[in-house]
Amino acid sequence: MKHLLSTRNLSRDEAIQILDVAEDMADVSNREVKKLPTLRGKTVVNLFFEDSTRTRISFEAAAKRLSADVINFSAKGSSVSKGESLKDTAQTLAAMGADGVVIRHHSSGAPQVLAESNWIDAPVINAGDGTHEHPTQALLDAFTMRRRLFGAASRGRDLHGVSVVIVGDILHSRVARSNLWLLQTLGAHVTFVAPATLVPFGVETWPATVSYDLDRVLRETQPDVVMMLRIQSERMNAAYFPNAREYSREWGLDDVRFSRLRADTIVMHPGPMNRGLEISAAAADSAQSTVLEQVTNGVSIRMAVLYLLLSGEREAQS
Ligand code: CP
Repeated sequence: MKHLLSTRNLSRDEAIQILDVAEDMADVSNREVKKLPTLRGKTVVNLFFEDSTRTRISFEAAAKRLSADVINFSAKGSSVSKGESLKDTAQTLAAMGADGVVIRHHSSGAPQVLAESNWIDAPVINAGDGTHEHPTQALLDAFTMRRRLFGAASRGRDLHGVSVVIVGDILHSRVARSNLWLLQTLGAHVTFVAPATLVPFGVETWPATVSYDLDRVLRETQPDVVMMLRIQSERMNAAYFPNAREYSREWGLDDVRFSRLRADTIVMHPGPMNRGLEISAAAADSAQSTVLEQVTNGVSIRMAVLYLLLSGEREAQS
């Protein structure tokens, strides 16, 4: 694997290798070793054409903790606003020396175009493309589930038999797609719950159970994990979306639904959250919530991905 564009083509062994290397990276942090010299002399370019807080900052932190130099590029305030293309932007950054490119783009498929082009000869990591995929988010989510469910016995394990309910705006969610492919590979069972207007066309061919009734799913499956998704207002055609009060009543993790979950059910959200819409403050801030753990674990996962793609370790092993 030269690039990380999707979780769909990750094998079980590749996924577990990334999760296990992330465990090593987390152990380094716990031992209060601030930095590893692994990527000294390498340059990571963060190419963000769409807004981000968690992903952009955690990629930067991950690269710096591996001693790489980091160039941060944000489309806002750049020559993209003057019409500069992805090709010219990428070639400009390549000319400054890039050993790895992390890209977030509003167009589905942009990271793949970059990876398959000859504009830049470096590993490309997809940090979220349109409504397509967000592979490092799914990896950090799987890492978080494994740690919460199996604790110190996590290493080397998959998620066989784990029941995951993913709720909300599936239609626009690259997080839902990347999670589905990865969780299936790791042996978990995924149920999508959404209003009918926020379920993608063709979902019946995907390896997930689909329901429109959240109360019934929670009652009947008693899931290990409930993952709430952000309502993506910026991608929403007004015609698609039930009004906020109806959405919250039917598909939100409100205080009553939260109180009915098993005491050990994990509550996840990739962030940013719309509190009071898809998730209540009590659920988001509870001991069952992993929202902040997901952010912390994101740095370990991104360290692992950068290490495996940029250090030559993966090529040496294959
Ligand atoms: N989860 C996630 O991708 O968050 P950001 O948009 O803040 O990066």
